[in-house]
Amino acid sequence: MIIYAAKDYEEMSKKAAQIMAAQITLKPNSVLGLATGSTPVGMYRHLTEWNHAGELDFSQVSSVNLDEYRGLSGENDQSYRYFMNTNLFDHVNIDKARTFVPDGLAEDADAACADYNEIICSMGGIDMQLLGIGGNGHIGFNEPADAFAQGTHIVDLTESTIQANARFFESMDDVPKQAITMGVGNIMSADKILLVASGEAKAEALYNSLYGPVTPQVPASILQFHKNVMIVADEAALRIIREKGLI
Ligand code: PGA
Repeated sequence: MIIYAAKDYEEMSKKAAQIMAAQITLKPNSVLGLATGSTPVGMYRHLTEWNHAGELDFSQVSSVNLDEYRGLSGENDQSYRYFMNTNLFDHVNIDKARTFVPDGLAEDADAACADYNEIICSMGGIDMQLLGIGGNGHIGFNEPADAFAQGTHIVDLTESTIQANARFFESMDDVPKQAITMGVGNIMSADKILLVASGEAKAEALYNSLYGPVTPQVPASILQFHKNVMIVADEAALRIIREKGLI
């Protein structure tokens, strides 16, 4: 595990983008595992700028995203497909036919999960998986649980997540109650993992994940067992790790 410290969100975004850009430069046909959320937005902006400047080519890149809400189409502005299109895919020369996000509208959820595992497999696995981290240590929609989930699966969103999401929707009834997410096993199978974290709200989760016991109650703690994890975090997110003299 390597921790790259950044002074603030901007510097974190640039360092993380440089690592992903290096991956694409070294292996132009990389399979990238991508993530949504507020943390990677700045990083996607840098990647877009470098693509426009002619310094970074996405033409051979493929991608698989971590998760998607159930019941939302890709046109819904709260869907993760929509997020990826508007934050990255619409702005770079990636072939959208090679960008995958779990199918939120699939009627047969089990088949959709099996299909997604198969997509990852048929691409030859993920070269670099980008991850954010939840304040409770979640990765993708793998929330604290009694066991680590292996493959892509359906999750019931917790009441607190539903409440937190409610502000984006017209009514409580419109808020998705389920999501489809890669499992911890899918994530751990990636060759390299790039975890980004910013802000004080992530400090405890980051410390617990990187230095606490490995437990499904802190899903990101499993990353301690991965052979190639890079963490790019700003000083606010690193506060506890710094205070304990671990870096
Ligand atoms: P955030 O979400 O980037 O919006 O903080 C990260 C996550 O919950 O995985």
